Amino acid sequence: MGRSRGAMAALLVLALSCAGEDGRNDVAAGDSRLSDTPLELSTDGLLDRTAADCDLGADTPPDAGMDVIADDQAAEVVPPPCKEPDVAVPVPVEPDETFDLGPYLMSPSSTSMSVMWRTLEATDSLVHFGKDEALDRQVGQLAAVTVHEIVLDGLEPDTRYTYQVESGGAKSQIHHFTTAPDPAQPVRFAHFSDNQNGPEVFAQHVTAMAAWGPDLLVGSGDHVQAGLEEPLWKEQLFGPGRGLFHEVPLQLAMGNHEENSPFYYDLMSNPHPADHPEWESLYGFRFGNTYFLMINTNYFLCPIGEVELPDGQRMRELAESPEAQSATWRIALGHENAVSECWGDGDCGYDGTLCVRNYVVPMLADRGFHFYLSGHTHAYERGQVGNLVHLIAGGGGGSLDAWCKDWPQTGVVHTAHHHLRFEAGCQTLRMEAVDLAGTVFDWVELDKDAPGILKDEGPIPDLPPPSLNSDR
Ligand SMILES: [Fe+2]
Repeated sequence: MGRSRGAMAALLVLALSCAGEDGRNDVAAGDSRLSDTPLELSTDGLLDRTAADCDLGADTPPDAGMDVIADDQAAEVVPPPCKEPDVAVPVPVEPDETFDLGPYLMSPSSTSMSVMWRTLEATDSLVHFGKDEALDRQVGQLAAVTVHEIVLDGLEPDTRYTYQVESGGAKSQIHHFTTAPDPAQPVRFAHFSDNQNGPEVFAQHVTAMAAWGPDLLVGSGDHVQAGLEEPLWKEQLFGPGRGLFHEVPLQLAMGNHEENSPFYYDLMSNPHPADHPEWESLYGFRFGNTYFLMINTNYFLCPIGEVELPDGQRMRELAESPEAQSATWRIALGHENAVSECWGDGDCGYDGTLCVRNYVVPMLADRGFHFYLSGHTHAYERGQVGNLVHLIAGGGGGSLDAWCKDWPQTGVVHTAHHHLRFEAGCQTLRMEAVDLAGTVFDWVELDKDAPGILKDEGPIPDLPPPSLNSDR
């Protein structure tokens, strides 16, 4: 939403310490241990606070599940060893249309979550939340806005929270989320791309992804058909995804169809430096044992001769960052792909993006990335570049492409709508590609100690014939 996580954290610290000089700092903060009565708006529109309400700064809950070894000088935090995941739990999908968009969840971490929603009229923002089924804490701001973002901070890892948002006196239904686990712990995530002008198909993916039970949703772009057409963000993305987005955080890369639209930046909350708002679409984040690098392939990513351009440098530095390199699994997402065997009407007017083929994907492979998840081509294609699995998974809803040429790097091609699901375990990373019938038509397993593909299986026989894409 155009603000860095650091900036938002600073906002919250300000809120928790009630530091506003004029009493108008726009945030109300409640805590079950300190404030049994919810904070309320007074008649002058300011937030009523008691002295106890303002004494919250030193009361942030500690990171649960972390062993702290203290010595005389410093405390060293040692994360617990990796524990293989429990069985996935389906996510209930109950679309709540109290507000224009959302509420939806972004910028997840083990200790924080951004709650976002959009209202038709500019109003205040308040989130009631708490552990398990409680709603005993509140964070909000009085500033009248239509796109609301409230950061819930000081949360406990791998913990289920209940929340409800309130604006202009209207309250949403009750929803839930679970924070990311500690850095060594397994996660499940689902991937979709190129849903764009196929919201009915995308809605089927949403239902299927929810029934599986992901911890996180990620996407490789073209999530709307024309990013500058504001209504499409609701019609094609936030509408069909609404019920799932209430409960599971979402992080999206930008495709060409987003058109670098200001609506992307308004509606997203991606970590980025405060002095580089454009890098809200070129960012990375850690979620449990997995690092995600979200690449905007509309940017100039490739060096010119020996000269590295700023966006390319940003991408490379994220790939090399300790946050990425310390992860068990490294997943990069970008919209355009390196090599494409399918294209509209089988004409091969596009067969991959040169910069992604010659620089981006080899650079990621050299830095130990396990997957490059792309779209742009509306088909499923799996290949390998070095030890990196190159996937095109552009089957989110846009009309399908047809096969037109062979690339030696690509071993599996399937022309059907699909999404992906990943289990990033302690030792193995399993990817499954799922069609609209719920059939796993391709899967791969990687072992963290054995570079490249450990096991895989190609597409099922008797594939449906491709439909030709004349509506790109
Ligand atoms: Fe597309």
